[in-house]
Amino acid sequence: MTTSAFLHPFAKPAKAKGDFITLVRSEGSTLWDRDGNAYLDGMASLWCCNAGHGNRRIIDAIKTQLDSMATYNTFDPWTNEPAERLAAEIAERAPMTDPRVFFTCSGSEAVDTALKLARLTHVRRGDPTRNLLVSRTGGYHGTTYGGTSVQGIAANKDGWGELLPAVLNVAQNDIEAASRLFAERGNEIAAVIAEPVQGAGGVHPPAPGYLAGLRRLCDQHGALLIFDEVICGWGRLGHWFGAQYYGVTPDLITFAKGVTSGYAPLGGVILSRAICDSLESDPDFLLRHGYTYSGHPTSCAAGVATLEVYEQDGLFARADAIATLLEDGLRALVEDGTLAGARGVGAVWAAELTPDRDAYVVRDAMLAQGVIARPLVNSIALCPPLVMTDDEVGRLIDSLATALR
Ligand SMILES: Cc1ncc(COP(=O)(O)O)c(C=O)c1O
Repeated sequence: MTTSAFLHPFAKPAKAKGDFITLVRSEGSTLWDRDGNAYLDGMASLWCCNAGHGNRRIIDAIKTQLDSMATYNTFDPWTNEPAERLAAEIAERAPMTDPRVFFTCSGSEAVDTALKLARLTHVRRGDPTRNLLVSRTGGYHGTTYGGTSVQGIAANKDGWGELLPAVLNVAQNDIEAASRLFAERGNEIAAVIAEPVQGAGGVHPPAPGYLAGLRRLCDQHGALLIFDEVICGWGRLGHWFGAQYYGVTPDLITFAKGVTSGYAPLGGVILSRAICDSLESDPDFLLRHGYTYSGHPTSCAAGVATLEVYEQDGLFARADAIATLLEDGLRALVEDGTLAGARGVGAVWAAELTPDRDAYVVRDAMLAQGVIARPLVNSIALCPPLVMTDDEVGRLIDSLATALR
């Protein structure tokens, strides 16, 4: 057995090189491997390729930027037009009034940045002992030490040694549990981090009123609310952000993935005006945080073009149509006993398998039919590109049904 020099993420390091599928081409909602096999992308790559594959406008924007200035950092005193423009466009579409945008390369870096900014805000406000970070069971917040520490998927936290202290998990949708924690330790809590709809933890929408309940608790106790919108943003729920879908405005939003539809690595954090005020109040204060690729011109050019594609092509309305197709298709399989349940919102759903099923076996059976889905605990996740046609969504559901039958 020969392994590859490439150590793959979220894979068994012992897996043989020949057992990976080498993809070579992609267009719309379809990918092809080097043997010419086609795959329907039921996962928008990894919850990110909302604009679909091979979009010429995004590709051309990247090429144009590469030709004029491929790269330069944005540490003081440098800036670039794509970063300035994308930040302004994101700020316009954010649920907060007059926010600012910090850029990272990934969702994990965005989460680390948001956690640091939350604690920093309290330091700047003269409350440095307010340190506790609260997250939910089932939450996924990336794989840096910050994101690993706050995530609520136990298996992902094992084996990395000591994680960040001052982190507490509360039960996924239990507002009473969060209330009790706030009653006991409210004056220590720096921030609560929550995905509006939990993704990698199994696609769990919030219980009715849960997010508004978190907002209320944070307001009552002086804590900040972070929405991790790495999956929920950019039309996945039919709006720019999940915050708008649920009508709850957080203090910080983390984003990545769909901001460029994955065409170039980019993530970031949107900061409320109140947080910006605390950072801006002392003209001599220096923000000692950032990445070599924060505001990378080529990634930001990809972002500007992607946002334009979402608007010009009306892709968020498409998310609503896909939502209906996925929900109807999955609920029909629940009714006939093929599935144990179906969970989801917008264009992100999970098919809950009956206890006798192994999600990996079901995933492989779908792959054998040329359909990509993602096994999560006892579920199969579906999160298609927003350009997927009705027929193709039908194929996703049919492939799942065939795999189960
Ligand atoms: C909600 C959420 N936060 C953070 C991340 C981490 O993003 P990245 O893989 O870009 O580091 C992910 C990735 O799936 C995610 O779903």
